[in-house]
Amino acid sequence: MRAMLVDLRSDTVTKPSAGMRAAMAGAEVGDDVYRDDPSVLALEEEVAALLGKPAALFVPTGSMANQIAILCHAERGDELIAGEGAHCAFYEVGAAAALGGVQFAFAGKGGLFTAEEAAEVIKAPAYYLPRTRLIAIENTHNRAGGRVFPQKDVLEIAALAQKHGFKMHLDGARIWNASVASGLSPADLAAPFDTISVCFSKGLGAPVGSALVGARDVIDRALRFRKMLGGGMRQAGVLAAAASYALRNHRERLVEDHAAAALIAETVRTVSGVHIDAVETNIVNVDVPSVPAEALVNAAKARGVLIGASGPHRVRIVTHLDLAKDDVPWTAQALAAAVRDALADVSARSGKTA
Ligand SMILES: Cc1ncc(COP(=O)(O)O)c(C=O)c1O
Repeated sequence: MRAMLVDLRSDTVTKPSAGMRAAMAGAEVGDDVYRDDPSVLALEEEVAALLGKPAALFVPTGSMANQIAILCHAERGDELIAGEGAHCAFYEVGAAAALGGVQFAFAGKGGLFTAEEAAEVIKAPAYYLPRTRLIAIENTHNRAGGRVFPQKDVLEIAALAQKHGFKMHLDGARIWNASVASGLSPADLAAPFDTISVCFSKGLGAPVGSALVGARDVIDRALRFRKMLGGGMRQAGVLAAAASYALRNHRERLVEDHAAAALIAETVRTVSGVHIDAVETNIVNVDVPSVPAEALVNAAKARGVLIGASGPHRVRIVTHLDLAKDDVPWTAQALAAAVRDALADVSARSGKTA
């Protein structure tokens, strides 16, 4: 076993590389609340161009980007359609309801959904019903195990939204992974949407930062909401420089994270009693129905790998740029051994109590 733990709880655990730190140290800065920070403005232009939209706004987190989008598109008493387990519904502290007075209707099962499934949950216009206003898609989908949302479905859902006059928001925290896995450019993936949130702090390895991207008038309103939520930062250019560095240097290498996740899945899947869905990007959900997730987490830690529980019998393994290529085979074997340890422990305990 290695002296150091390999941390695969999330792709957010990466530390800025030497090159990124140098870019941060050299960044020109100003006061971004006055819109005076040249590095922030340059990043916003760069990310808007990359996504083929007119404007972008740098914000501290992906959660803030999603919630600003909801505030821009919906009002109190409105409803937003999303897939099950959507980050903006599941992991953002109820912010859509708490801040925007907006509730969710969930389409389909497991995170991805079709236009037909979205159509089933649209509310008919009536004064006594919530108004459906927005459809939000997550690509890749975190809780669904990094699944890529099929672009054919995205286009059909966008056509449905257009027919009803709904807005479309993409939670593209991992749009970079979706792009590499699908072969579609970030601009192609973003085209059917009014707003897109993207993160620099996940697979791209920046320490902080996200952006909301869209039309100029929406981003002008987003600027007001960013300030309202306390997200107006001052000399944020040091952070924007890290994000620009990440965009330029860390997108193409995401294929390595996907290959590492595939090898881990292939290796752990050989243990009987384990179920792993198809792995499309850098997230591996491992279901072991007979073992509590905490026991799997502890067994993996004892073998030198940190992972997280994401359900009563499910753990999540996420690959990222701080997992060295040479450590991947060893890590995959350690995780398979940890699952075997946890299964053996459960069966030894049930033997004792029988
Ligand atoms: C799909 C998705 N959207 C949004 C976020 C929110 O990002 P942040 O942690 O920067 O708020 C995450 C974080 O993991 C995510 O996985």
